[in-house]
Parts: sequence; C-alpha cells; structure tokens
Amino acid sequence: MMRDREKERDPDDLVEPVAPVIVIGPKNTSVVAGREATLECIANARPVERLVLSWKRNGRRLASGVGVFGRRLTLSSPSLSDGGVYVCEASIINSTTRPTEARAHLSVLEPPYFTAEPKLKTVAAVDKNVDLHCQAKGVPPARLEWYKDAVPVSKLANPRYKVTSATGLTVRRVQPGDAGMFQCFARNAAGDTQTHTQLVVTSVAPSFSLLPSDLTVTDGNSAVFSCETTGSPKPAVSWRRGSQLLASGTVQIPRFTLLESGGLLVEPIRMHDSGDYTCTAASADGSINATATLTVWTRTFISVPPVDQRVIKGTTATLDCNATHDPRVNISFQWQRGAVPLQPSGGRVSILSGSLTISQTWSGDIGDYTCTVTSQAGNQSRSARLEVIELPHSPRSLSVSLNDSDSRSVLLSWVRPFDGNSPLLHYILELSENNSPWKMYMSEVEPAVTRVTVGGLTPARTYQFRLCAVNQVGRGQYSGETQ
Ligand SMILES: *[C@@H]1O[C@H](CO)[C@@H](O)[C@H](O)[C@H]1NC(C)=O
Ligand SMILES: *[C@@H]1O[C@H](CO)[C@@H](O)[C@H](O)[C@H]1NC(C)=O
Ligand SMILES: *[C@@H]1O[C@H](CO)[C@@H](O)[C@H](O)[C@H]1NC(C)=O
Ligand SMILES: *[C@@H]1O[C@H](CO)[C@@H](O)[C@H](O)[C@H]1NC(C)=O
Ligand SMILES: *[C@@H]1O[C@H](CO)[C@@H](O)[C@H](O)[C@H]1NC(C)=O
Ligand SMILES: *[C@@H]1O[C@H](CO)[C@@H](O)[C@H](O)[C@H]1NC(C)=O
Ligand SMILES: *[C@@H]1O[C@H](CO)[C@@H](O)[C@H](O)[C@H]1NC(C)=O
Repeated sequence: MMRDREKERDPDDLVEPVAPVIVIGPKNTSVVAGREATLECIANARPVERLVLSWKRNGRRLASGVGVFGRRLTLSSPSLSDGGVYVCEASIINSTTRPTEARAHLSVLEPPYFTAEPKLKTVAAVDKNVDLHCQAKGVPPARLEWYKDAVPVSKLANPRYKVTSATGLTVRRVQPGDAGMFQCFARNAAGDTQTHTQLVVTSVAPSFSLLPSDLTVTDGNSAVFSCETTGSPKPAVSWRRGSQLLASGTVQIPRFTLLESGGLLVEPIRMHDSGDYTCTAASADGSINATATLTVWTRTFISVPPVDQRVIKGTTATLDCNATHDPRVNISFQWQRGAVPLQPSGGRVSILSGSLTISQTWSGDIGDYTCTVTSQAGNQSRSARLEVIELPHSPRSLSVSLNDSDSRSVLLSWVRPFDGNSPLLHYILELSENNSPWKMYMSEVEPAVTRVTVGGLTPARTYQFRLCAVNQVGRGQYSGETQ
C-alpha cells in the first residue's frame, strides 16, 4: 500500500528519465586576480527533481563556492593558479542516462607590476651611456612604453634612445638636451602602472688615467707616447712639441699620428725628433697637460765591414770589423764561422775591438766569417770569406814513353796535383841531359795540360825530366824524376 501511495504522489517516478540538456553553459571568463568570478550553468531534464548539477576541475568535483542547485560556481578571490578549464556536469540520480557536460575557460589576469624600476633621479655624465631600468610582469605580459617629458619616446625617433626588454631605456652618449622626466608605463588587459625618473646631465672635468712616460728610441724606429684621459664630455686631446702643434682632432702632420687612445705615434723617428712632448686634454670644464721626453739614439751600423781575404798558409789573417754608434750606447762584437760562434781562446784566434785575428792559418780555417755588432740601438751583421792558400803539391806519376813513329820524341804525362787552394798558373818542365845540371826546358806549360810531347832529342843520350806546378803562392815541389 505504502508503495502504491508513494507512486501516486510522485508520478514522475513512473516516467522514463530523459538525458539532461545544458540550456545555458558556462562562458569563457576573464577575471582580475582577487576579484570575484562567477560561472553559471542551467540545465533541463526529466524528472527535473532528480537533476543534479555539479562542477569539476581537473577531474575533481568542486565542493566550495557551489551555489543553489549547483547553478553557479563562485570563486570569491581567484589567484593565477585558479585559471583553467571548469566543467559543469548535469546528471540524473539513480539513472543510467549519461551525464551531460559543458566547459568554460577561466582566465585569471594579473595587472602589471614592476620588477625593476629606475631611481627617482638618474645622474649621467655627458657622452656616457646610461640605462634607465624598467621591467614589468603581469598576465597577460605587460607592454612597456616610455615617455620623455610626456611625449612617447617612439615619437621622438632619437637614434640614441634604445628600448630593450632586458633593461629598459638606454640613452647612448648622453647630451645636455637629454635631461628631463622619463616615464615608463606598463600596460596589459588587467590594468596599467607607471614609474619615472628625472634624468640629470652633468659634466666631468678632464683628468689623466695614463700619463705619457719618457721614451728612448733608435733612429728609424717608431715611438708611441701614451696619454689616456677621462672626463665628460670626452676631452679633446692634442700633442705639441714646444709651441708646434703636432696632432689633434683636426691637425695631422706627416709622421705624427694621434691614436684613438689619446696616444701619439711618431713613425719613423728622426734624430731631430728629440725633445719634450706635451699632451693636452681639454673640454669646456678645463684643460690639463702632461709632458714627457723623447731621446733618439743614432742607429749602430758596421762602418768597417770585413772583406774577403786570401792568406798564405801559416801566416796571420785579420778580418776587420768596426761600428759607428751613439756615444750613449754600448756595443759588443761577436764573430761566427758559418753558424759556429768563435770564442777567443788565447790560442790562434783573438778578437780585438771588433777585428778578428787568426794566426798560423791552415786550410781548416777556410770559411765564411760573420761579424755581428749588438747594441740597444740596433744590431748588424756583415760576412766575408777567408781562403787559406799554399804552394801547389808536386805533380804525381810523371811517366815517359817513346813515340812509336818518331824515335826522337817522347811523351810525358802526369797527374794533376792539389792546387794549394789557388788556381795553378802553369807548370815548369826541366830536363837533365847525361846527368848534367837541371835546365829549364818549358817554362809555361798550360795548367790544364797533363801531357806534353818533347821532340828533337838526340839519340844515344840519357834524358831525365822533372816538373813542378806554380800558383799565386809560388812554385811547388818537383815531381819525381823520370828514368
Ligand atoms: C536512489 O536509489 C537509492 C536505492 O536504490 C535510494 O535509497 C535513494 O533514495 C534514491 N534517491 C533518489 C533521489 O531517488
Ligand atoms: C574558450 O576558451 C578555450 C580555451 O582558451 C577555447 O579553446 C574555446 O574556443 C573558448 N570558447 C569560446 C566559446 O570562446
Ligand atoms: C700646462 O698646465 C699648466 C698648469 O698645470 C699651465 O700653467 C701651462 O700653461 C700648461 N701648458 C700648456 C702648453 O698648455
Ligand atoms: C772604430 O771606429 C771608431 C769611429 O767610427 C773609431 O773611433 C775607432 O778608432 C775605430 N776602431 C778601430 C779599431 O779602428
Ligand atoms: C755601458 O756600459 C757602462 C759600463 O759597463 C755602464 O755603466 C753603462 O750603464 C752602459 N750603458 C748602457 C746604455 O747600457
Ligand atoms: C740585438 O741582439 C740582441 C741579442 O741577440 C737581442 O736581444 C736584441 O733584441 C736585438 N735587437 C734588435 C733591435 O734586433
Ligand atoms: C809522335 O811524333 C809525331 C811527330 O813528331 C807527332 O805528330 C805525334 O803526335 C807523336 N805521337 C804521340 C803519341 O805523341
């Protein structure tokens, strides 16, 4: 009975449930963090009494903030982490019908706020670069805009003003006209904010950060005087010797170059460049100067170079070497034979004020000798060749043979001897008849010849021959005598 009555009281129970329909789904919503956000969901179903609306986020059912019949979801003070997809689910209790869903995206916005701000007052010296810091965050990301004295910097189109997201506004080579109020605005969909700085432009009087120092240079080399300055605006540097202007921003005379650093390059140096050099640094705030001295040494050079020598074996060879040099520098001499340095050992080799003396010369002394003068004002080397010559050796293997066709003539031949390091001039051929004293027979036998025919001999006599070679040094030993 009870059952029947209940059924009469609640006729919907008898109705087959109809799947829920979401009539008005939640809408994509943007809200500023901290402000209240509401999502709405209206659904229909049969039986309507068994319709249940619930809210889910990330697959989890939400309990708090759900209003009457689940139609509203209220987030009283959403934070950034509350942003995301919210799902409204309509279902019928104790039914097998599938629930219906609708979803909406909640965007939680954050108004811009500064993470870096300039000081209220920024002081910059003329010609320096200055960074006006301004960085902001926000959701969505903040856009920055700079104003100078209420005019957008983008409209000023000043090539020295550069806005970067990493720092803010950079003003390069600050000029007096850059002074003023710089404002940085940060804006996004959730709002805007601003910060500002007063740019004050100052100047700094010139001063030296690196003074020129005295230099000593060899004639023909180059010299660089340093002169580094600080100051804003950058001081104008000029160089003078006495009253003569050598180099400045506008003046440039040959051999004198004003360097980017403020230094002075003199190239090449001449003897008459000796003197005092003054670097002057000037700006509207003042002028300073500094002076340094240039000393120029004459270049050391070999004035008396060694000359090729040819000496007779056993005699003394002298290779001269002398140098001209600045009286203020010391010089020293070194000698080498080939690549081997010579050490005067107190023996046959001695070096006296540059000149090299070798006594008791022999063929082992032959070679190229180099004199090197070393000094602070330059080094120089000169070479010469030493030849040691001696008498030619005796012609060897002198032999004689009869002429087959002419019995009154013989053929003499010999082997060319060592020439004593000096070309042979000729041979002398001598003859002895029947053991009489030796007589000159031929006095000028060509040095290239190694055989001669001797004719017109008298039969039945004995003849002996001998031969010697002659070079620049003299006549060498005789050969053996023929039989
Ligand atoms: C759903 O069914 C259960 C048992 O089947 C019952 O106890 C409950 O009261 C029902 N709820 C509604 C709203 O009908
Ligand atoms: C709601 O926002 C989501 C994610 O931003 C987007 O995919 C969807 O198209 C939006 N729906 C409407 C009706 O604008
Ligand atoms: C260098 O500076 C001194 C003062 O420090 C000044 O008296 C002098 O006239 C200056 N010389 C030059 C060449 O400017
Ligand atoms: C070398 O030369 C200098 C000057 O050039 C001269 O005074 C000196 O006497 C010379 N020395 C020798 C050994 O010739
Ligand atoms: C040259 O030698 C002398 C004596 O050895 C020394 O007093 C002097 O300082 C030297 N000069 C230079 C320029 O080196
Ligand atoms: C001269 O020779 C010395 C010693 O070999 C060396 O130290 C110096 O650098 C040389 N000077 C020049 C100008 O070549
Ligand atoms: C032999 O003597 C003749 C006449 O004097 C000469 O012409 C010839 O060249 C000689 N022969 C040799 C091998 O010297």
